[in-house]
Amino acid sequence: MRPLLSKKATCNSHGQDSSYFLGWQEYEKNPYDEINNPGGIIQMGLAENQLSFDLLESWLSENPNVAGFKGSNGESIFRELALFQDYHGLPAFKKAMVKFMAEIRENRVSFDPSKLVLTAGATSANETLMFCLAEKGDAILIPTPYYPGFDRDLKWRTGAEIIPIQCTSSNGFKITSIALEKAYQNALKLNLNAKAILVTNPSNPLGTTMTRKELDLLMDFVVDKEIHLVSDEIYSGTVFGPPTYISIMEVLNAPKYDGHEVWDRVHVVYSLSKDLGLPGFRVGALYSNNEYVVAAATKMSSFGLVSSQTQYFLSVLLSDEKFTRNYIEENKRRLKLRHRLLISGFRSAGINCLESNSGLFCWVDMRHLLRSNTFEAEMELWRKIVYQVKLNISPGSSCHCLEPGWFRVCFANMSEATLDIAMKHIAAFVAELTVTKHDSTINQKSCHRHPSFFTSPVSTKSIAKWVFRLSFHDGRER
Ligand SMILES: Cc1ncc(COP(=O)(O)O)c(C=O)c1O
Repeated sequence: MRPLLSKKATCNSHGQDSSYFLGWQEYEKNPYDEINNPGGIIQMGLAENQLSFDLLESWLSENPNVAGFKGSNGESIFRELALFQDYHGLPAFKKAMVKFMAEIRENRVSFDPSKLVLTAGATSANETLMFCLAEKGDAILIPTPYYPGFDRDLKWRTGAEIIPIQCTSSNGFKITSIALEKAYQNALKLNLNAKAILVTNPSNPLGTTMTRKELDLLMDFVVDKEIHLVSDEIYSGTVFGPPTYISIMEVLNAPKYDGHEVWDRVHVVYSLSKDLGLPGFRVGALYSNNEYVVAAATKMSSFGLVSSQTQYFLSVLLSDEKFTRNYIEENKRRLKLRHRLLISGFRSAGINCLESNSGLFCWVDMRHLLRSNTFEAEMELWRKIVYQVKLNISPGSSCHCLEPGWFRVCFANMSEATLDIAMKHIAAFVAELTVTKHDSTINQKSCHRHPSFFTSPVSTKSIAKWVFRLSFHDGRER
């Protein structure tokens, strides 16, 4: 039959069948609810910040005019907003947004609103930037482990490829010059033109900020190779502990880059989805000193604009300095407490996390719980954790981690009580796993004990076929 759909519509490079997204689907089928479904799956695979909603809600109740399409004097601005569609964005909003971005960086850097392009979230900002920098035959180098959505955002529609910069636990997943050079050479071997390095700082999934040494290394590399550097700083407002956060824009301000042409090749991606906890509002931005990138991206932003009432609402909210100052501080304080709870919960179950200071998640080391040092074993453990322990977490393989046994676990999208229950589930699971291991060591041939986690009502048979398909696929690839 004549194909009626485009190749783009039918190709599967979108990444939707990654275990990262599939875990969400399983959660949707059986979501945990304290009252109505206490046996359901707890969602710990979603990097959502729900810890400071009350601050936003109390601001809203103190400023009812803003959400009611009314201006500062109570006059209706409904028509004005309904008609506004300039793709340059509302000047008042761009001004408030750059002020907020500087505030998060403790005003060590400032941003110029004319270099900011508004987009429907960081998803759109990353793709738009890629459309400006790369196309089929080009490669973007990204340190592993990385945010699984990048396969969709950077590759799917642009045709560009991602080449991993392989980082390992031996140095806390830090970028090294050897790993950078290797990735660059790998791109060449594949006949790809390395166009840019993209880093996420703070990192998703590691929850760590980049050191000055790493940032300097990156700058030296992009200067030497004459390529672009994209810094996705979507988590910049979540840094709750030392060391102090350093944005790539601060590095660029160093005297040695005064008037340097590399200024045109460094770009920042941002969004209010994490720091302000507003992913549903779809507010993102890309910031660039390159006037051609800004001009092209502004034209492209027509495909994913931020609605005018959202821009208006946020322009007033973010201009309220008293609110933003308090929100940033209080939100960090709450994240820090949550992070501590998660770390100590895992620690009492004998599980360590990578030392971290930011983000909405921890990078959890469960290598000692694997049956073997393989990605098949990682998927086997993941299935148990999703179906039997009833926690949806993200396996490291979905973040392209090189080593099996690491998992990303989110802590800011649930109540403290739910987090507490999740930690109890994990502790019980590890205790039973340890007993099983012990029993099977004593009697290799006949295991008499059948702990509940291994004889769950959800039998292996009932686990959807895709999990096996995926497990097999992932195992083979790595
Ligand atoms: C590193 C990173 N970049 C981009 C995004 C997409 O964010 P948005 O909701 O603003 O599109 C996410 C979301 O999790 C992310 O973690």
